[in-house]
Amino acid sequence: MTIHIGAKTGDIAETVLLPGDPMRAKWAAEKFLDAPKLVNKVRGMLGFTGTWNGHPVTIHGSGMGMPSLSIYANELIRDYGARTLVRIGSCGSMQAHVKLRDIVVAMTASSMETPSRGMFRELNFAPCADWTLLRAAVEAAEGTGTPTHVGGIYSSGTFYDERPDLNEQMTRHGVLAVEMEAAELYTVAARHGARALAILTVSDHLQTGEALNSESRERSFGDMVRIALEAALSA
Ligand code: HPA
Repeated sequence: MTIHIGAKTGDIAETVLLPGDPMRAKWAAEKFLDAPKLVNKVRGMLGFTGTWNGHPVTIHGSGMGMPSLSIYANELIRDYGARTLVRIGSCGSMQAHVKLRDIVVAMTASSMETPSRGMFRELNFAPCADWTLLRAAVEAAEGTGTPTHVGGIYSSGTFYDERPDLNEQMTRHGVLAVEMEAAELYTVAARHGARALAILTVSDHLQTGEALNSESRERSFGDMVRIALEAALSA
């Protein structure tokens, strides 16, 4: 048990999928894992462990935003021995060619600040996805037929953002999409020698204002779970 995770030692698999929403963790575990078992419910942050094609897998909520994700990523890696962490989530497109329902696989994530920012002092650390996971996820994503984009994203600390000028700069610099967790996930994983990747579905578009309805979100989310499982357990 840790401060935020009630699981016993050995209850968490080396492979962990991290959706933001704990109810999504429950949905994915029940739909994709064999014999899913609830291993955490502290603060309503649900985590389940089961098997996929015989491989042990944990699907655990990360919460919204980097401070929340940072707590779970740290404890999962340091205290429970997680070695491969794949965020599955949604993002807002920042590019005209990145459409609703497309998949974005994040090579790197810019940010204004992460919970790890203070320790780097003058250094602008460049968070980076694990290459083997990235390659396997792109292959799996392309196999679904859904347009897949690979590149940099922006991990924001603010959902209700008041800096349209900053978004404009990122669009100019080719940043594909905005979400709120990947930069810290990549940084914490790097610190502890673990592998990390973020696979995202485009749920809304910053330029057009379009957004997916809840049924499409669920379908896209299911695709990402499959891609994440294939990538994590083949690479
Ligand atoms: N901003 C931040 N995070 C997001 C967004 C967004 O527009 N869409 C999905 N996650």
